[in-house]
Amino acid sequence: MSGFVLSIDQGTTSTRAIVFDGKMRAVGTGQQEFPQHYPASGWVEHDPEDIWTSVVATVKAALGDAGLEAKDIAAIGITNQRETVVMWDRETGRAVHNAIVWQDRRTAALCEKLKGEGLEETFTEKTGLLLDPYFSGTKFSWLLDNVEGVRERAEQGQLLAGTIDSFLIWRLTGGRTHVTDATNASRTLLFNIEKNAWDEELLSILGVPRALLAEVKDTADDFGVTEKALFGAEIPILGVAGDQQAATIGQACFAPGMLKSTYGTGCFAVLNTGETLVRSKNRLLSTIAYRLDGKTTYALEGSIFVAGAAVQWLRDGLQIIGKAADSGVLAEKADAAQDVYLVPAFVGLGAPYWDAGARGAIFGLTRNTGPAEFARATLESVAFQTRDLLEAMRRDWPDGAETKVLRVDGGMVASDWTMQCLADILDAPVDRPTVLETTALGAAWLAGSRACVWPGADEFAQSWALERQFTPRMGEEERARRLKGWRDAVRRTLTSAV
Ligand code: G3P
Repeated sequence: MSGFVLSIDQGTTSTRAIVFDGKMRAVGTGQQEFPQHYPASGWVEHDPEDIWTSVVATVKAALGDAGLEAKDIAAIGITNQRETVVMWDRETGRAVHNAIVWQDRRTAALCEKLKGEGLEETFTEKTGLLLDPYFSGTKFSWLLDNVEGVRERAEQGQLLAGTIDSFLIWRLTGGRTHVTDATNASRTLLFNIEKNAWDEELLSILGVPRALLAEVKDTADDFGVTEKALFGAEIPILGVAGDQQAATIGQACFAPGMLKSTYGTGCFAVLNTGETLVRSKNRLLSTIAYRLDGKTTYALEGSIFVAGAAVQWLRDGLQIIGKAADSGVLAEKADAAQDVYLVPAFVGLGAPYWDAGARGAIFGLTRNTGPAEFARATLESVAFQTRDLLEAMRRDWPDGAETKVLRVDGGMVASDWTMQCLADILDAPVDRPTVLETTALGAAWLAGSRACVWPGADEFAQSWALERQFTPRMGEEERARRLKGWRDAVRRTLTSAV
């Protein structure tokens, strides 16, 4: 059988499909952006039909780019924006409403109400998550309670619901399988990550009928076969993982203590904690890194909502750079004597603060402050936030404290200036791999190894190659001063003390 594996990476702003060959090299790519909908303040939606057409189009484009046909592909791996939910009719496959995206804050009041009833501990104990609108559970409740006729149809068994992976698999298999994987399930606020099962008590608190939800499989498993009519041949879907978990796999962070951070729209740091389900005391998330052969590997995760999005703000909002890549060049020109701090709480603050009400703030402006200092403060804010996450991780899991190296990926890591800044602020080495398509590669590896056309975990881990390591150059005194300035800026931005 051929070693070609197709990876579908369905992200928040675009969909990518990449064909990898038997040597795990990308040989064909398709990419398509799709519209974002903001129907009210703090609401973010996607049209599921846009997502679906982007998937079909990018798969065809990637095959064409690689000069291959569907029959040449051994397996498909799917990775996806997590927490985003779709609910659809099981007969027609049509969604009952737009997808509610992970960034959407519409269920903030419901989360507060549940917290007020003292329920956060129950959710955290079972799911490893917090009561925040970020996660899927309250989004399902919202659809059931606010879209006309939906609750009745759900109770009559006419509807299905799930994260993006489930919706895509339902469509790809022509409505034959309703499945998800353990990593995606672990982000729903409905899945008991210790028992590896949907939790009846949580389903009942959120009023979500169990019949809506998918069967939960391992991350490498048989998820069904694509309909022949779609791409010209049936292709088995053998790997599924949420995008941050797929990046963890793509970075070969298989050993406990290994850590990766992905810098896309937001930043997501994931620390492999092995078989140990580490319970955070610092408002990080405990989550499933992957489940292989029925064995669950856990992780601690820190999620920052704004990273690359702050660079977009420099480009599109402030218009002080022409393209994202210019941000490092501009930051380099900043006046070293100015201490300017940006807290990019544009949509509130995620881990470890979880302050949905906070908004962005900038401190330390003087008459000399200009675009270069804004650019530096923006890039530094990403480094400071990463440091906050890593410190919280060390406090939560002293056993994993020997974690010294951070593996990075995502659009922002192309900037040498930003990566040097990250190493300086972390006071730790930052490793940038040769392959930056780690998310797609992780999903492809799940599928390729399951199809027995790609190597197992050990050999895959050995193929991980370093492009450049950034080591700290900043003096201890300066680092301490900068960190103090950052913490002071955060303290003044928060709406409540933490
Ligand atoms: O948890 C949200 C995350 O999965 C989104 O990732 O890369 O689509 O912004 P991305």
